[in-house]
Amino acid sequence: MSFEGIDGAGKSTHIDALAGAFRAAGRTVVLTREPGGTPLAEKIRALVLHEPMGPLTEALLMFAARRDHIEQVIAPALARGEVVLCDRFTDATFAYQGGGRGFDWDSLSKLELLAQDRQAPEANLAHKDLLQPDLTIWFDLPPAVAAERLAGARVPDRFESQPAAFFDAVRAGYARRAAEAPARFARIDASQPRDAVGVDVRAAVQGRGWL
Ligand code: TYD
Repeated sequence: MSFEGIDGAGKSTHIDALAGAFRAAGRTVVLTREPGGTPLAEKIRALVLHEPMGPLTEALLMFAARRDHIEQVIAPALARGEVVLCDRFTDATFAYQGGGRGFDWDSLSKLELLAQDRQAPEANLAHKDLLQPDLTIWFDLPPAVAAERLAGARVPDRFESQPAAFFDAVRAGYARRAAEAPARFARIDASQPRDAVGVDVRAAVQGRGWL
């Protein structure tokens, strides 16, 4: 499963709660995040969050980090039958690099095919077996509400410091991605009080027959 939303959407507590629920149900849970999740990908994370770079470089680094994460962590855990909970995944690249930065959507789709091909380490565009989350929880809320939640929380990174219009575009990117894969997405109204959001998250997971 993956968890998505603009900065300030409040994903973290709900991801932790779900991890606890899966563990209580006897499952082994891998809690991970993107960009990051491996030593190499965490180095890439530090670069993309703090170093100036162009949109193509940024997109390529996101996918490079993702490929390493899939090979080292996600694919092996899934093969062992474990539950993988990933704080952000490819939809964030479409929303932030595609929607927010304006990077070409079709080019991102090609990179997705390369980076997430389960079969070929030397991936090609044959699209043999694309790894995607079984369920993506999208914490959706107006950027103005998210900005209020983030205000003063910490020193902002290269994304958190963007103006409101950037997050409008990121949100539109998520909406486009959700429309392209409606069966995979569960949209949650993240402007509700935290408990109500938690109830909706649990319902979305249970709706898949889990927990
Ligand atoms: P985030 O989950 O917000 O981490 P934290 O809660 O520690 O700030 O993720 C970091 C940022 O990376 C976030 O602003 C979104 C951005 N991002 C992209 O731009 N593209 C991507 O593909 C991913 C995975 C994240």
